[in-house]
Amino acid sequence: MIYPILSYGNNVLRAVAKDIGKDYKDLQKLIDDLFETMYAGNGVGLAAPQIGFSLRLFVIDGNPYSKDEPKLKDFKRVFINAEIVEENGKKWLFNEGCLSFPKLREDVYRPSEIKISYYDENFNFHQECFDGITARIVQHEYDHTRGKLFVDHLSPLKRRLLKRKLNDISKGNVDVDYKMKFSAK
Ligand code: NI
Repeated sequence: MIYPILSYGNNVLRAVAKDIGKDYKDLQKLIDDLFETMYAGNGVGLAAPQIGFSLRLFVIDGNPYSKDEPKLKDFKRVFINAEIVEENGKKWLFNEGCLSFPKLREDVYRPSEIKISYYDENFNFHQECFDGITARIVQHEYDHTRGKLFVDHLSPLKRRLLKRKLNDISKGNVDVDYKMKFSAK
């Protein structure tokens, strides 16, 4: 099932999401729906809060970036109750977008390496290190489970300049070719 994606301005995107228990009902269905909704919007990652579930869950399929980073070719993952344990390396700029912000792309600085612990869809525990674009996608999605958004990483000046654009996004005054729910409508 394809869910409408919540736009910037929706309070669910600002909440710190809750842990998922092993006994969470219909978890596989929710995971399948997240992937389906993500693919419908041509995204490389999607977090549960973006479809209205304030849960520590996000999915990633990095394949569209495999030309830039070959190891992303088969990088299709589910992250449950993820915790970034360490962030290391030099901060670097990468042009990020987000399905909750249609048509907006901005350069964002983040550290280049992360160590993250998480459970996969079978509730197996993992602790892994990622770098490059892989780390970048994980950092962006992880932020969603903490109520944080990529525009929070921009300078105050840059955010001021984007104010009208962000306002338009929250109101739905933007062209979008996937299903969305605008907060101020
Ligand atoms: Ni996003």
